[in-house]
Amino acid sequence: MKITIIGAGYVGLVTAVGFAELGNEIMCIEKDSSKLNKLSQGISPIYEPGLTEMLQKHIKQNKIHFTDKIEDGIVFGDIIFLCVGTPQNDDGKADLSQVEEVAKEMAKNMKSYKLIIEKSTVPVNTHQWVKTVIKRYVRKNIEFDIASNPEFLKEGSAIRDFMNPDRIVVGLEGERAKLIFEQIYKSFTDKEVPLIITTPAAAELIKHASNSFLATKISYINMVSALCEKVGADINMVAEGMGYDKRIGRDFLKAGIGYGGSCFPKDVKAFIKIAEEHGIDFNLLEEVEKINTTRRIKFVEKIEDILWIIKDKNIAVWGLAFKPNTDDIREAPAIDIVRELEKAGANLRLYDPKANENFKSIFSEKQNLKYFKDKYDALKDADALLIITEWDEFIKADLSRVKENMKLPIIIDGRNIFSAKIMKEKGFEYHSIGREKFNPGEVWK
Ligand code: UDX
Repeated sequence: MKITIIGAGYVGLVTAVGFAELGNEIMCIEKDSSKLNKLSQGISPIYEPGLTEMLQKHIKQNKIHFTDKIEDGIVFGDIIFLCVGTPQNDDGKADLSQVEEVAKEMAKNMKSYKLIIEKSTVPVNTHQWVKTVIKRYVRKNIEFDIASNPEFLKEGSAIRDFMNPDRIVVGLEGERAKLIFEQIYKSFTDKEVPLIITTPAAAELIKHASNSFLATKISYINMVSALCEKVGADINMVAEGMGYDKRIGRDFLKAGIGYGGSCFPKDVKAFIKIAEEHGIDFNLLEEVEKINTTRRIKFVEKIEDILWIIKDKNIAVWGLAFKPNTDDIREAPAIDIVRELEKAGANLRLYDPKANENFKSIFSEKQNLKYFKDKYDALKDADALLIITEWDEFIKADLSRVKENMKLPIIIDGRNIFSAKIMKEKGFEYHSIGREKFNPGEVWK
């Protein structure tokens, strides 16, 4: 099938490469010239495991094309995925101006039937606006359908998530659109992946409701972890005990310094606004947000409780990305934590396997804030090591080397990546979230 993807951001690019992998021919529209230039040469503007290899393969096989000419894209495919950005306005609402812009362009350039599919996360009933805009600008007698097909991929495992979805959600009206979707996703439904066909409004809601629910789970477990810390229980054990209940499930019960990224913070805010606009007070989600923001502040307070004076202390930071396997630092906890420690006068020694360069766009290198290419070098003379992101290479770090390089063997772990027992045996003063408490200075050998 010939498919057009408008917008080669995270969702757009993964969708483009994923549909090419399924045997379709793709035209991807990107208006940002520097991105377009990279993409045309097979260079992915984002780090995502497996993406570059797949992109290059499909460019070579002529299955994926990039252009900035939206009119060419609209003529190319009868199936058009809208993957443009829906950034957050100052008031938390989604800014849908790019969606409107593209809808107008589509209407002006459509010459035959099109199935127009929202893939970007949009507020409920956006499909009605897209339909209205197209009706206002389209030439008479050209038929089209609007559908919503939200994407649930996670950064760091985006290709795997696209190729192995838990479910496919499609909101549509009319038999013609339904038949096209059944064809697009046949290879998945053949493998028994559930295809949920519903209305566009329900599909739009499923995306916001899912992300907000997952964020709620994280804030919930983080509050339980705060209680664990007070009473001396281990949050990992509590989460495990809860997770065996199938109704609760084990996923998204990892306590730590809270969620970040381009989706949860934005989607929770947008969902609160959507509810508000419909007269619903969703203050449960306001609390979820508040708890999440507070985690970062509490972590900085924990550091102060452990180190006492921050000024002139050498603090190594492992992990800047909002989660492992990505170079994305949007809404990353590391931003707030580094900002507070810098203000307090710390000498910061930062390391991330992929996100150093992106972090430099917020914190430039200076005397008291240095970036390192090697995680062990970042530890030289450190008074403490903070773990902010749970990269695999940190979990597998050589702890003897860690200890040798540091001035003091103090680790403050925001992601609970080590066993407190092992750390004690190895002679670290190890502080984590919602687990056994170490008194400062307690266990050094
Ligand atoms: C999320 C949704 O999972 C995905 O379905 C949607 O399409 C986009 O938003 P993503 O933001 O890529 O994906 O990452 P995810 O793995 O969901 O993690 C989000 C944040 O929550 C990260 O900061 C992560 O560290 C945090 N998190 C996740 C926890 O703190 N605890 C957990 O148990 C799980």
